[in-house]
This record gives sequence, structure tokens and C-alpha cells, in this order.
Amino acid sequence: MKFPKDFFLGAASAAYQVEGAWNEDGKGISNWDLFTKIPGKTFEGTNGDVAVDHYHRYKEDIKLMAEMGLDSYRFSVSWARIIPDGDGEVNKKGIEFYNNLINECLKYGIVPFVTLYHWDMPNVLEEKGGWTNKHTVDAFVKYAKTCFEAFGDRVKHWITFNETIVFCQKGYLTGSHPPGIINDVKKYFEATHNVFTAHAKSVLEYKKLRQFGEIGITHVFSPAFSVDDNKENVAAAYHANQYEIAWYYDPILKGTYPKYVLDQLKENNWTPAWTEEELNILREAAPKNDFIGLNYYQPQRVIKNTVDAEEHAKAHCDGAPGNASFDGAYRTVSMKDKVYTKWGWEIAPDALVEGLRLLKSEYGDIKLYITENGLGDADPIIEDEVMDVPRIKFIETHLKAVKKAISEGINLKGYYAWSVIDLLSWLNGYKKQYGFIYVDHKNNLERKKKLSFYWYKKVIEERGENI
Ligand code: BG6
Repeated sequence: MKFPKDFFLGAASAAYQVEGAWNEDGKGISNWDLFTKIPGKTFEGTNGDVAVDHYHRYKEDIKLMAEMGLDSYRFSVSWARIIPDGDGEVNKKGIEFYNNLINECLKYGIVPFVTLYHWDMPNVLEEKGGWTNKHTVDAFVKYAKTCFEAFGDRVKHWITFNETIVFCQKGYLTGSHPPGIINDVKKYFEATHNVFTAHAKSVLEYKKLRQFGEIGITHVFSPAFSVDDNKENVAAAYHANQYEIAWYYDPILKGTYPKYVLDQLKENNWTPAWTEEELNILREAAPKNDFIGLNYYQPQRVIKNTVDAEEHAKAHCDGAPGNASFDGAYRTVSMKDKVYTKWGWEIAPDALVEGLRLLKSEYGDIKLYITENGLGDADPIIEDEVMDVPRIKFIETHLKAVKKAISEGINLKGYYAWSVIDLLSWLNGYKKQYGFIYVDHKNNLERKKKLSFYWYKKVIEERGENI
């Protein structure tokens, strides 16, 4: 089987992780610009001030993407570049940069797939409460509209938010992302609701403009499976999926929140301060979503928790199993018969197919893209070549899983490897690599094609026939 002609074989990045130029051409200061400078927050104090300098080298990078044959490039826009103080004047230079980037993609026939929010927010808004302040919702919608109007003649694929669960959990529960708040459950749920409202309002605005493109949201897709048939563990996995899948996917696709979670929020006094109007907006926007983007790295293996949740949440905030959930109900674990990356993330292409089946049974035939999937590794360099064979194996087995899912009738329309080029890992610096293109930090950020670059090029040329 070949991947269909209209299936995107692409790769992705995010503004803060690649651009650099953090204070150039009128860009405002973002929450991440400041958070990474707080001692102890990131690996060896790494930050995105320069990152891989994509801001200045985008032409070189897109040329390489074209050589690889990418159908599509998923990147994000830095809000603080477009509207430096969050909701004031538009920065012409910011618009110009993304116009150039988009035009450069189109020059080579690469379809731009644009994320509006991949975690970096103008710091002025963060200072006023960030996603817990409803003013941020209106500011975001204004920013989204600015982007639709500036770029929508050429950009036909929009993602509003990347991984709401990550920036809200890490922002308000573990404190490892801005604004660095620990264990404020009320704020956590408040923030998620405000993001969903901002998403819904942006979808409605986009449709009003009649630009005839598509719009959706990207969520983490990390389905939870019980480690065994023990009733308590099965219930724990159900609980995990209600809080980590249903809470995120229901308001987008069904326009309502899951009753199971709602009942518990009420009991604990955690219900967000929502208005009838906001709940109506969620309902109105739900059928207008064109797709859901899924970032799939690993599933969760779950047991009922018996250890102190707070201690565990503090100890593990790096994505590896070992966490207790914030409410202490369940815990993720590593299993002896599974395979893990150097950073302890499970490698499980089969669980992707299984998860997609569950997703289809719950949400029907909505169009899906895998908007991120990849291997974080410390790549070996042998005789001056980056021999990232494990990455090739990782992507190959996941593309096989994607094929299987398509053959079963799952409505998957694209696959974006994370990441197109080595970039800043938010908390792990440059040591944890994901790209097809190596960046030499000791040699003027020079680009070099990895083994996987040539491999992915061939996969795209053959439309995956030999996978
Ligand atoms: C996803 C994010 O959660 O995971 C990316 O959308 C991120 O921005 C990727 O880089 C990998 O995470 P990490 O922690 O391994 O760099």
C-alpha cells in the first residue's frame, strides 16, 4: 500500500524551539523568554534566545525540507512577534517574517500547516494571569484573526493550540512550565476551559471569514491502558482516560464536558467559573472543527495509585512513567516487557492503532492528522556522519501503524515527524535530538543531513510503498 496522494508526509517544529531572534525586529518578550532564565528551570540553563536560528536561516532550512521532499511543514507562529504586548498594535516586521516563511514554503510546493499557539505567550498577558484570565481569551481571538487575515490567502490549515494538557498541567500542577505554579487544581481546570473557549471562538471567527481552509486543534494522544485485568487498575485506566482524553476531546468534538469528570469537579469545588454563553460557544463550534491533530509519543500504562501524589508529581515531570495523577487516583508505570527510549518513554506503535480504534468508537469519523511523532535520542556520530538508525526504526514502525489504521478505515490524512530539524527541547536543552537535520552547536549552527534525512526522502518519493 502507498500513502494516498492527498496524505501529507511532513515534519514539524515550533517557534520558540527553532527561531531564536528573541528580541529582534520588534518582537515582544514571551513567558518562555523569561521562564528559561530562572536558574534551575531548564537543562544547564538552555534557552531559545538563539535556538537554531531559524529566524535568519529559514531559507536554508526550507531548501533542505524541499530536498527531503516534504509535502508539508508544520510550524508555529510566535504570538509575541505578531502582537508584542498581547492585544495591542500589530508588529509589521513579525507579519513580514511569517509572510516570507510561508512564501518560501510555497515556492517549493510545501504546504504550510500553521499552529497559532505552541506555548509561548506575550509575557504581558502571563503577568496578568495568563490562561486563568478571561482577557487572554479575547486577546487570543484577536491574534488568531490577525493571522487569518494576514496569511489566510495562502495558509489553508490551521491548528489553534498545541497540547493544552501539557501547558496547563505543567503550568499549574507540576510547575515545570510557565507560570510555574504547583498544585493549583482550580486554576488548572480554569485554564483548560479558557483555552477551549479561545479555540471555539477562533473556529467561529475563522469560518466567518470564509477562507475555505480547515481548522482544528492538536492534542496529546496518550491513551491509558490498565497493566492487567485487576478491576482496580481497569478503573484507574478509565479514570485516566476521562481526565486526560475525554476532558480535552469532548469540549472540542462534542461541545460538552464529560459527566464523570464534571461530577468530581463539583464535589471538590474545582469547577471552572464558566458562563452559559461560553458553554453555548463550545456547543456551537464543535461541529465546525475540521480535524483533530494528535501528538503521539507513547501510551500510558496505568495502575491504581497507592503512593503520595504530590511527591511523585514533583519528582517526575519529564514524560517518563512513574507519575501519580494530581488527584492521586492512578499512577503510570514502566513494564518489564516493554521497550523504552533513553529518556524512558515507551516505544509502542501498536498502542497507536489500538488508541485510534478507541478514538473512532468515541468520536466517529472526524479527520485526523498525526501532528507529532518521533524519537528523542542522543544521536551517535560515526566518522562524521549522524547515524540515527534508531530514529529510522521508530518512524518506520509508526508509519506502519498508520498504514494499518488507514486500512482499517481510520480517517488519517497526514503524518508529521517531530521534528524536521534538531531543536531546543523545552526542558532538555539540545542534548535530546529529534530531527532529520543535525545542527552543530560547536560550529556556527551548521546544518548536516542525518541518515534519517535520506531515508525519509526515499519514503516520501515512494509514498511509503516499501514500509
Ligand atoms: C511535545 C511538544 O510535547 O513533545 C514539543 O509539542 C516537544 O514541542 C516534544 O519538543 C518533545 O518533548 P521533549 O520534552 O522530549 O523535548
